Amino acid sequence: MNENGFRDFLNDLEDAGQLKHIKKPVDCRQLSSLGDQVNEATIFENIIDYPGWRVATALVSTRKRLAIAMGCPENRVAFEFESKSTRPIKPISVKSAPCQEIVMEGDNVDLTTIPLPMMHLFDGGPYISGTFAISNDPEHGSNVGCYRLMYRTPNETGIDLVSPSDMRFYYQRALDKGEPLPIAIAVGVHPLDMLAASYKAPIDIDELALAGGLRGQALEMVKCKSLDLEVPADAEMILEGELLPIGWTADEGPFGEFSQISGDVKWNPVFRIKCITHRRDPIFYMLQMPWENDWLAAPVTEAAGLQALRIASVQPVDIRAPVGSCGYWSLIASIKKRPGEGKNAVAALLSVAEVKFVIVTDEDIDIYDPDELDWAIAFRVQANQDAIILEGARAKHIDPSVKSWLLGKGGLPTTAKLGIDATIPEGVPKILYRRIKNYGRDRFKLEDFE
Ligand SMILES: Cc1cc2nc3c(=O)[nH]c(=O)nc-3n(C[C@H](O)[C@H](O)[C@H](O)COP(=O)(O)O)c2cc1C
Repeated sequence: MNENGFRDFLNDLEDAGQLKHIKKPVDCRQLSSLGDQVNEATIFENIIDYPGWRVATALVSTRKRLAIAMGCPENRVAFEFESKSTRPIKPISVKSAPCQEIVMEGDNVDLTTIPLPMMHLFDGGPYISGTFAISNDPEHGSNVGCYRLMYRTPNETGIDLVSPSDMRFYYQRALDKGEPLPIAIAVGVHPLDMLAASYKAPIDIDELALAGGLRGQALEMVKCKSLDLEVPADAEMILEGELLPIGWTADEGPFGEFSQISGDVKWNPVFRIKCITHRRDPIFYMLQMPWENDWLAAPVTEAAGLQALRIASVQPVDIRAPVGSCGYWSLIASIKKRPGEGKNAVAALLSVAEVKFVIVTDEDIDIYDPDELDWAIAFRVQANQDAIILEGARAKHIDPSVKSWLLGKGGLPTTAKLGIDATIPEGVPKILYRRIKNYGRDRFKLEDFE
């Protein structure tokens, strides 16, 4: 049995004093608001009208809790992610699983038996916000991603497939043949599994093996009841079904997006569910938006940035995807610079997926300190030499500034990107950046004068 599952992580949070239990009865419409007010992760023990269910939320809505999941200091999460991702461990198959203790099939499939939360003002319906979605393609093999689901009917949800992704690509290939795409959705898996799923791995990389690498233990997988797909045995709940071959034709949203903006209605496919399985004493995972999504995004973006820097032969010292830009849109890195590498680093980081703003500094700058960053930008940057603008690059729909409403159904937006090389310019002597030091600072101690 896996020792790094969802429930083990809840125990880890408990041990770290980071899990609050709310025992009073709570309505599904209250969960998100209440979870947002608690400093710790939260488990709601008593859900009105859903006896037997509990709801967990805000598990990784801080870097501190993400670091607990990864088992490392807060500023090493990306480096840990990067190094563990080079040691994938293939999943193994098991015959029976906790996630299949209860089975609802055919006409018994009923999403209204699950405490789906109404999360934000303006949402198009209750949402399942934290999923581990598994699909397969005859040529490219198995794929995992995180995709949100919006309640439509007792056996149907919407799914957000507007952005480029492997599952969107698999769906398009099935659609071209006029066929549905079978998918299985696990809810309630370890945050490391979510990190592996949301990592923009090249299409032929096995994200299940990546999740095994992060856990340091093979994921145990069990065959679905109604599909030829395998799912994590220790998940809380599984939805088995297919994406209907209708293309991007159904309303999905609005939803409180990871961009920290209340999103718009999108045109998307529909997921029809054939079978629901769950544990006998299930915990529904309500991934709290936007913070959990953004903190899960940050190390993924940071690790992609590290990889881009290394491919560009630049040595990174530190890297940060600020949560203010939702863990996706900005990267700040410090490097051990050789001549010209400030620019190479900027170019490399701008190539990372949706990253739209980049700052690169020398290693003497603490990139977690905004004052230090301001100082580096003030004194190491000449705008006409150190700012790089890249036009027509890939963008995300939910960035209002890319005006995606002007595109047709299924259209993909583009954006301009800005990078700033805030390293000491070539030809400027380092001595000119000697920082102020008080006379006798090492010898004169305040305590001797108090
Ligand atoms: C919590 C969470 C929710 C996400 N929801 C979506 C979503 O609804 N649609 C989407 O396109 N990407 C979403 N993403 C990003 C994708 O999971 C990510 O791009 C991933 O690499 C896609 O996997 P794939 O390309 O292997 O299919 C989400 C990420 C996280 C962390």
